[in-house]
Amino acid sequence: MTKYYAEPFKIKMVEPIKMLTREERIEKIRNAHYNVFYLDSDDVYIDLLTDSGTGAMSANQWAGVMVGDEAYSGSRSYKNLMASAKDIFGYEYFQPVHQGRAAEKVVMPIFLHEGKVAISNMHFDTTRAHVELAGARAIDCVIPEALDTVNYHPFKGNMDIERLKKLIEEYGPENVGMIIITVTNNSAGGQPVSMDNIKKTSEIAKSYNIPVCIDAARYAENAYFIKNREDGYSDKSIKDIAREMFSYADLFTMSAKKDAIINMGGLVGVKNDPELFEVVKARTIPYEGFVSYGGLSGRDIEAMAIGLQEGTDFDYLKYRIGQMEYLAEKLDEAGIAYQSPVGGHAVFLDAKKLLPHIPYYEFPAQALAIELYIEAGIRSCDIGSYMMGNDPDTGEQIESEFEFTRLAVPRRVYTQSHLDVIVEALKAIKERKDTLKGYRITWEPEVLRHFTAKLEPLK
Ligand code: F0G
Repeated sequence: MTKYYAEPFKIKMVEPIKMLTREERIEKIRNAHYNVFYLDSDDVYIDLLTDSGTGAMSANQWAGVMVGDEAYSGSRSYKNLMASAKDIFGYEYFQPVHQGRAAEKVVMPIFLHEGKVAISNMHFDTTRAHVELAGARAIDCVIPEALDTVNYHPFKGNMDIERLKKLIEEYGPENVGMIIITVTNNSAGGQPVSMDNIKKTSEIAKSYNIPVCIDAARYAENAYFIKNREDGYSDKSIKDIAREMFSYADLFTMSAKKDAIINMGGLVGVKNDPELFEVVKARTIPYEGFVSYGGLSGRDIEAMAIGLQEGTDFDYLKYRIGQMEYLAEKLDEAGIAYQSPVGGHAVFLDAKKLLPHIPYYEFPAQALAIELYIEAGIRSCDIGSYMMGNDPDTGEQIESEFEFTRLAVPRRVYTQSHLDVIVEALKAIKERKDTLKGYRITWEPEVLRHFTAKLEPLK
C-alpha cells in the first residue's frame, strides 16, 4: 500500500470551506453555463481547478511579505530574488514578471513571427497562445508513449527525439524559432522529462543553432522525478539536478505560481547572453514595469525568493508528489483510469476511458468535471478537446490526443481526508457513468475559449 507521507508542516491558519446541497450545486453549475470558470469559489468545496497561485505560503514567506522592499528601483527584495534564483538555476540574468504568460509575452516575439514554428514536447495553452499571437505555429512533439495512459513509462513527458529531427528538417532549421521543453509536461499529465531527454533535445537544437527555452513552471517536481527514476541521480540534491537541467537550455520562462509556491509571480531567466537579456529588459519595461519589479510588488518578490528555496526541499516534494501517488493508488483500487504513472501536480483522469460513449466533440472530460462538481462540490477542469478549441487555420474543432479531467492539487492546502472525499465522489460517478451526457458550446470567444465559453448539456 502506498504510504501517505504526512505533511512536513503544521497548520497555523485555516480558511473555512462548505459543501452546498446537491440541488444547490445543480443550480450553481447551470447558472455558470456549465463552465467551471464561472463558478464562485464560495460554492466550491474542494478546488482542484489549478495548482497555480493556489498554494499556501509558509510563515517565512508571510514574514517576507512584511519586510518586502517596495522601492521602484534597486530594491532589497529584488536582490534577494536574484541571489535565490542564481543559487537554483545557475543563470546570469533574471527578469521578474507578473506571471508565466507575461514571461511568454516578453520572450516569444523575440524568437517567433509569421512563417516560424515553435516545437515543444507539449505547449501549455497560454504558451501555444503566445506562439500564435507572435504569428508563428506551435507543434507538439511528445513521445508516443504519452498517448497510452495505461502502460508505465518513467518519463512520459519526453520529447520525441527522432520526430524532432524530422520536424526540423521538414520545416527547415531556419524556420524553427525555438524549441520549448515544458517541465513537467503539464498537458501530457504533469509527466516528467528525463535529464537524458533534455540533454539530447539540447544537443539537436545546438547542432541546428536553434535556441532552447525551458517552460519551467514545475521544474522542482521534475527534478524530484529525475532523482527517483533516472540512473545516476539518486544521490544528487534537487538543486543540483535543477542546475543541470537548466544548463542545457539558453533561457527559461517560468510561472512562479507553481513550484515557487506564491500566489502571483513569474520569471524569465537568460543563461549567459547579455544582448538577449537587454532585449528581454527592453520588452519588460513597457509591458510589465521596471526591471527590478516587473509587474510585482516588492512583497511578492520577497515571497518568491523564499518560495523558490522552499519548493526545492526534498521532504516537501516527497509529501507533495506523495499526495498524487496516494490518490492514484485509490483510483487503481476503484478501477478508474488516469494518466499513469501519476504526474507531479495533478491526477489526470482518463475521461475517454470512463465515458467512451461521449465523443470528443461532445467533450467527455468537461462532462466528468461537471459531474464531479455536482457529486461533491469538487472543481476540476477539462484538458482535452474542449480546452484545445478550434484549428486557427480551418476553424474546425480539434480532436485532442487526450480527454483528461484534471484534478490539480494546490500545494500545502488539502489533507488526506480531502483526498478521500475526491476518491469517494469518483467511485459514485463510476457507478452511474453510462447515464452521463455530453455538452455543446452555445457561445465561445476566439482565443483560450475554455475560460469563458458557455455550454449546455445534450439531451
Ligand atoms: N506554462 C505551464 C506549463 C503552465 O502550466 C502554465 C500555467 C503557464 C505556463 C502559464 O503560467 O498561469 O502563471 O501565466 N498553468 C496553470 C494551470 C494556469 O492551471 O496549469 P501563468
